[in-house]
Amino acid sequence: MYRQIGVVTGGGDAPGLNAVIRAVVRTAVGEFGMKVVGIEDSFEGLIGETRTMKLTKRGVSGLLPRGGTILGTRNYGEFCKFVDGKVIYPENTIREAIENLKKLDIEALVVIGGDGTLGIAQELCRRGFPIIGVPKTIDNDLAATELTFGFMTAIDIATEALDRLHTTAASHDRVMILEVMGRHTGWIALHSGLAGSADVILIPEIPFSYESMVQKIFQREKSGSRFTNIVVAEGATEVGKSEVYQDSGDSKTAPRLGGIGDAVREKIEEMTGKEARCVVLGHLQRGGSPNAFDRMLGTNFGACAVRALANGQTGKMVALQANLVVPVPLSNAIANIKTVPVDGQLVRTARDIGISFAAPKEAKL
Ligand code: F6P
Repeated sequence: MYRQIGVVTGGGDAPGLNAVIRAVVRTAVGEFGMKVVGIEDSFEGLIGETRTMKLTKRGVSGLLPRGGTILGTRNYGEFCKFVDGKVIYPENTIREAIENLKKLDIEALVVIGGDGTLGIAQELCRRGFPIIGVPKTIDNDLAATELTFGFMTAIDIATEALDRLHTTAASHDRVMILEVMGRHTGWIALHSGLAGSADVILIPEIPFSYESMVQKIFQREKSGSRFTNIVVAEGATEVGKSEVYQDSGDSKTAPRLGGIGDAVREKIEEMTGKEARCVVLGHLQRGGSPNAFDRMLGTNFGACAVRALANGQTGKMVALQANLVVPVPLSNAIANIKTVPVDGQLVRTARDIGISFAAPKEAKL
């Protein structure tokens, strides 16, 4: 049994991070008598002058509903370099982190993060350091788990935004476009589009055509609905075109998606003559309190992660599968991102109830 474990949060923040930290501490201290140390600012707190905080049961009191992470996080830094579109984990940085973990008397780590952070965790693990990962991201794009925590809260926020855009769209007979996050996947757009009654959903997995989108808008006009709500994932693309970026990144930071919503607005105004407006939901999807589901899922993930460590497991990520949290190999979780199945049930349901993905084959023009 470990005497002392560490916990680290990395990548973009997501609602529920503090819920996981709280559950890790309560389980490790309360159930297994371990001590817990929080690493600050993602793995960055493990290089140079280390930055850590002691975590006690009293210290995590009141954390469950709190947004962000008390440990701080980074989605760039010394542990990941981007070279020709590939991620490199510098050997000397990984080694320094392991040496510092030993100096800090930390014997194992719970790593809460998405594919980038868990990729770093995998490097530490490959060098013999015990690790259990916890799947975090509002994008829900991690393989091997049906859900990541943070995703359900992001959907709630995007759905509320769509509800609000609905009434203003209808009042002005406008086309309203909501750009949501999700990186290279359309999970947030698809789920919130269904829950928020979007008329058109644009996702990276189904490249769109403007003709098809315009056809949908005119069909609605004909049937008496002179407004249209479109939800577009930041990674969505027109057929044959590339993703739209607001920042191309450099060796330290990944490229940042954004801008497709406004491109769609401009083109729709030009092609239909209708007024269109674009709202970019941005970091509102990540900030603030987690919903009840993410508090519950984050808590279960945190407790299961500590139990896995206590049982001597390492190199695993706790994952939700068929409503149970189970350990799966970390390598399975980060090998590929999980995309929306284009022939899946939710896409089919959306089509059956009249939502368009603006795929070229949907156009009858
Ligand atoms: O991965 C989470 C996420 O919010 C993505 O949906 C988005 O593309 C990215 O992070 C934004 O990153 P940043 O916080 O650096 O703007």
